[in-house]
Order: sequence, then C-alpha cells, then structure tokens
Amino acid sequence: KIPVIIDCDPGHDDALMLMLAHGSGHFDIKAVTISAGNQTQAKTLQNALKVLTLIGATDIPVYHGADKPLFRELVIADYVHGETGLDGPALPVPVMQAQPISAVEGIAAILAASESPVTIVPTGPLTNIATFLLAYPHLKSKIERISLMGGGIFRGNMTPLAEFNIYADPEAAAIVFKAGVPITMCGLDVTHKALVFQKDIELLRALGNKTGKAAADLMDFFSIFYRENRVELNGGAALHDPCAIAWLINPGIFKTKSCYVDVETKGELTRGATVVDFYNTLQMEPNATVAYDIDRDAFMDLLFNAIKVLP
Ligand code: BDR
Ligand code: CA
Repeated sequence: KIPVIIDCDPGHDDALMLMLAHGSGHFDIKAVTISAGNQTQAKTLQNALKVLTLIGATDIPVYHGADKPLFRELVIADYVHGETGLDGPALPVPVMQAQPISAVEGIAAILAASESPVTIVPTGPLTNIATFLLAYPHLKSKIERISLMGGGIFRGNMTPLAEFNIYADPEAAAIVFKAGVPITMCGLDVTHKALVFQKDIELLRALGNKTGKAAADLMDFFSIFYRENRVELNGGAALHDPCAIAWLINPGIFKTKSCYVDVETKGELTRGATVVDFYNTLQMEPNATVAYDIDRDAFMDLLFNAIKVLP
C-alpha cells in the first residue's frame, strides 16, 4: 500500500476523492489534513469528518489546517459547492473529532516517524503544504511525491488562466512547485476530461450502498453548476480531485508530459496561473509530471469499484 497524507477541502469532488482513496484499498492513509477553499476551514473540516464517518474510515486522523491563504484574503467556491461546502445529501454526524494539533505539525510528526517516504495528495489550496515545506525543510526527503489537483496547461476556471486551488493561494503554490519534490499535476486540461454524466450518477445510486447513494446525491448537486456554466462539457461534471488519487492507483490511464511549471503571483490578469512550459521553450529542468489526458471509462471503473466496497 502507498503511504499517503491527503490535504483536501471537501467539496463534492474532494468527497469522491476520499471515497476512491479509501475504497481502492491501494493506500495507507496516514492522515487527512484540511485546507480552506471550497468553503471555510470550519466547514471543510466538518465535511471531511462526515465523509470519513460515512465511508467507515473513522480511524484516519484528521488535522485542521490554515484558516486563510498565506498572504491573500480567503476565497471560497460556494457557487459550486453550496452553503455547507457539501450541499445535496444528508451526511452522518461525525463520530470522531479532529486532532488537537495542526495539519503542519501533524504532517511533520508523521513524516518524522515514517520509515518509508510518504506521498502527499493536495486537492485544495496549497497553504498547509507550503507552510510545512517552509517550517520543516529537513523533512522534504521524507516526501516521495506530491500528486496534486490544481492549475491548468492552457486554461483556468477562476479566471481565464487560473484554476481555483492555485488562484486561492498562489504564493503557496509557487513554494510547492519550487520545492524540489517530485510533483504530479492534474490540472483542468485532464480533469475536464474526467467527466461524470447523469448515467454514471444513476449507476452510483444503483450500487445500493449508503456511500453510492451519497456519491450520487453529491453529484446531482455538483452537476447543476456544470450544466449551467460549462455547456461545452455536454452535461458532464468534472471530477477534478479524484484524478490526483487515480494517477497514483494507475498512471497508465493518463497521458503525461514532464514539464517545467511555475506559478504567476504578480500578473495583473494572471494571478495564480500555472505557467506550464509544455513545449519546453524555456529549456528549464522539468519539475512536474503534468497530466493532459485520461481514459475516462477506466477512471470511472476505478471509482465504481472503490465505492461499491464501501459501507
Ligand atoms: C478545484 O477547485 C475546487 O472547487 C474543487 O474541489 C477542485 O479541487 C477545481 O478547480
Ligand atoms: Ca478540492
């Protein structure tokens, strides 16, 4: 099993990412740490506890993270994820509480104690991970890889060129991309091909378990934004965050390219854009494996197979 720490801001697609991670049986999930993004930290933390309770992963320690980005004001995505951050289904009351120490301290303690390097999977703004890298540089060697959802090669969703997770805390993202740790980047170019359609939602519901029903209800709500605002996706909703986990399960279902990636923190129109040198025009040493295509059907199979074994 791959040892991982998951840093997320649930969030509908984060919730399905947790289901995929746990249900796949592929990971030793050492912790779930919480970023503020899709909603406030207070809400994303509660949401993570609820989802982990739903899927029977109550022994995974959960750590609260930063309330706001390093230097910027908090931006949230309630226009996608609703007032709670996980609008749609009725989710269970959490049976566990967050740990008494912060995400940064928790990550440090886990990495220090781990004999083998740990993979970090961020699917929200990168505030916690950047803070950790700055505070504990000597523990970098304990990170196997960072497999993240964020950015885009050729497009944004928050602004024309910036994707939400990177836009929300661009300075943090810049720190992460410059850290010298191997990175896999699943940005919008690939996540907008990881589409869930109405027929898939019905298949989730037909799995017959509580988690399948909750996943279907979550996707019903999530799809509303996509149907109204992303007509070019033909009714599909982009399952962004599960991609960062799916690549670790089976990189063979993705097409990737090694690229040099940096983050725009100063641009007037381009705050938080990932500048991906896809054609190696700058002749810089690549610092990321950038995903640009996915076998959607194989990806959905991973998701169904994971969700069907959950409660
Ligand atoms: C990313 O932003 C959030 O709204 C999603 O959870 C995903 O992590 C997509 O841009
Ligand atoms: Ca997310």
